[in-house]
Amino acid sequence: MKEILVLGGGGFIGRNIVSSLLSSNDCVVTAADIQEGSNWSELASNPSTKNRFKPVIDDFTDMQAFHRLNQNFDEIYMLAAVVGVNKTLEHPEEVIRINSLLTMNTLDFISRNPINKLLFSSSSENYAGTSDLFNIEIPTPESVALCIEDVKHPRWTYAITKMHGELAFFHSAKSHNYKCVIVRYQNIIGPEMGFGHAIPHISERFFKAKESPFKIYGHDQTRAFCYIDDAVKGTIGAMESEKSSGQIYHIGMDDEINMETLTKYIGSLYDYSGQYENAMTYPGSVSRRCPDISKARNDFGYNPEINWKDAVRHTVHWYKEFFEKGNTPKRGGFRPPENFITKDR
Ligand SMILES: NC(=O)c1ccc[n+]([C@@H]2O[C@H](COP(=O)([O-])OP(=O)(O)OC[C@H]3O[C@@H](n4cnc5c(N)ncnc54)[C@H](O)[C@@H]3O)[C@@H](O)[C@H]2O)c1
Repeated sequence: MKEILVLGGGGFIGRNIVSSLLSSNDCVVTAADIQEGSNWSELASNPSTKNRFKPVIDDFTDMQAFHRLNQNFDEIYMLAAVVGVNKTLEHPEEVIRINSLLTMNTLDFISRNPINKLLFSSSSENYAGTSDLFNIEIPTPESVALCIEDVKHPRWTYAITKMHGELAFFHSAKSHNYKCVIVRYQNIIGPEMGFGHAIPHISERFFKAKESPFKIYGHDQTRAFCYIDDAVKGTIGAMESEKSSGQIYHIGMDDEINMETLTKYIGSLYDYSGQYENAMTYPGSVSRRCPDISKARNDFGYNPEINWKDAVRHTVHWYKEFFEKGNTPKRGGFRPPENFITKDR
């Protein structure tokens, strides 16, 4: 049986990959994370998965955590990272420290424990600077140049750790003789996706704040939202494809919508009938984003099926129930862009 390690296997995308991998019977999956995934106890007790599921809670910025894994793997999905705009703007130094250490420790582990293939989760943030400074193609292909707009702005710390990871794994793969594939995720959404993203924020505001007029932050900015089930299929497809070694793939959806359309659609799901007002957005936030996903389509038949309205509706449904039950986010949660006007650092 194939031995698979999912680093960040307790997170939003990681835990869904773990479930999906275990749903076929041909692998043992170690899910490693600093925190438990919400599906872990079910996977650990379900008769069809419990003997093939190995949960590990540890801090993988500490190399000792890798030593404690104490085994060889055929494949590694490297998804562990500090994620989210708020964290990047508030603690850029921690984003650099943690994400770089996670990459460097994984490299060190692989150099001692040979693997067959690694998938690294990168981000559309890598070309956000290029997108705003230059007139790039939209939908954007993987061949786009990557760019940091302003080294002093905290926003770019996350992107630089993703660029670092891409280069680090590609070049280590050559010298340590394993296959490597990069996926650049593009606005993946779904139930329990965390609280540091646009859709949870907008949901929280409609539920709690009863704002009127309701501010639409960055009304003319565009994004393309991809449902988690499609992203999981794309990720596993990228790992399993014979063609993917040494390649980068955009995993997302190519249906570009603007924040005004998104906000008003979410408003309709909350039966909001008040006024709307356009407002500023988060500093450094990219004006347009929509991936070209044809390379993944051609190479391994990636075919996202869930349109943006269904994806948003399923996602908002989960958040609505969460707030209706009186829950509050443990971390993250909405902080208005006005709080993030950064001084020159
Ligand atoms: N969700 C998206 O749309 C999106 C977009 C671009 C890139 N990505 C990338 O995909 C990956 C998964 O993203 P996600 O949305 O599931 O985020 P997430 O925050 O839910 O998952 C990341 C996981 O990494 C874990 N982690 C952080 N520090 C760790 C440490 N020291 N040791 C062990 N685990 C640690 C976290 O606990 C978390 O469970 C990340 O690398 C992220 O940068 C996601």
